[in-house]
Amino acid sequence: MCHDCVAAVGTVAVAGPAPAAGSAPSRRSVARLLAIGAGMTALAACTPDGGTPPPSSASPSVTSASPASAPSSSSPSPAATSASAASEPATPTPTASPAPTSPAARHSQQHSLTDPASPWVVVNKHRPLSPADYVPADLVQPNITLAVSGEAAQLNRTTAAAAEQMFAAAAQEGVTMTLTSGYRSYGTQVATYNGYVASRGQAEADTASARPGYSEHQTGWAFDIGDGGGACSFQPCFAEQPAAVWAKANGHRFGFVVRYPWMLHEITGYYYEPWHLRYIGVEAATDMATRGVATLEEYFGLEAAPGYL
Ligand code: DAL
Ligand code: ZN
Repeated sequence: MCHDCVAAVGTVAVAGPAPAAGSAPSRRSVARLLAIGAGMTALAACTPDGGTPPPSSASPSVTSASPASAPSSSSPSPAATSASAASEPATPTPTASPAPTSPAARHSQQHSLTDPASPWVVVNKHRPLSPADYVPADLVQPNITLAVSGEAAQLNRTTAAAAEQMFAAAAQEGVTMTLTSGYRSYGTQVATYNGYVASRGQAEADTASARPGYSEHQTGWAFDIGDGGGACSFQPCFAEQPAAVWAKANGHRFGFVVRYPWMLHEITGYYYEPWHLRYIGVEAATDMATRGVATLEEYFGLEAAPGYL
């Protein structure tokens, strides 16, 4: 879960029994758990336990941009030899020239997968931010409907501009979208994560809230959305709200992906968060959507990150 309202977590009902180690939860049991409420319940029954081998095999040492082939491909592409960070995707970035036939050649630009100022930085339970106390240099408040204030209402400049376009396009189609949690400093993440641990214990907290230094929110490239009325805010049922349905179908046109998709927690480390959008640029997001690649880990040929190392 990606919001600062830790108190809401404390209202969730108690989870049912966890499935046997290594077994996938049945759709029925998952549906039942989701129906219980605010995600943490489902998370408890489906906590990534490391019992399933990571589905992706690429080395975690990959640090530069080289999107993998389609999921049917048996081997990830070799990484480009360099990829400097770019805080503005529109700005050409010096890179190695990928071979015309390589997957990376699909993209006009390449970006670092490790620099937090890069639109392609991949942050997960195996890939902490470096430096851990990173602060984006270009935080701004987007001109969109805000459900929060202060730092939570900020995004990096590129993400803010893309969000403005996306929110406006959604509004033109009658879909109300609000910003419910944007930038989160390291210190805020400490408080957020500790709140989850206090109310749910560390195991459950780790399925919903990133540990300090491991959250995409700290990069300014990610934010959470709500709808105008706050329906199902930060709950599994948000997936059926117009804002989430629209964002899932159209987000790529503005450079966004739903970062933690349904049932891919063994790869991402987190359960479905239909509210959490991540900017990676229009070209890459559209490529992911077109090719049916759902996670950044798979797209960039990185190992799955179901738990902390
Ligand atoms: N809810 C996401 C994983 C975060 O805390 O960054
Ligand atoms: Zn989030």
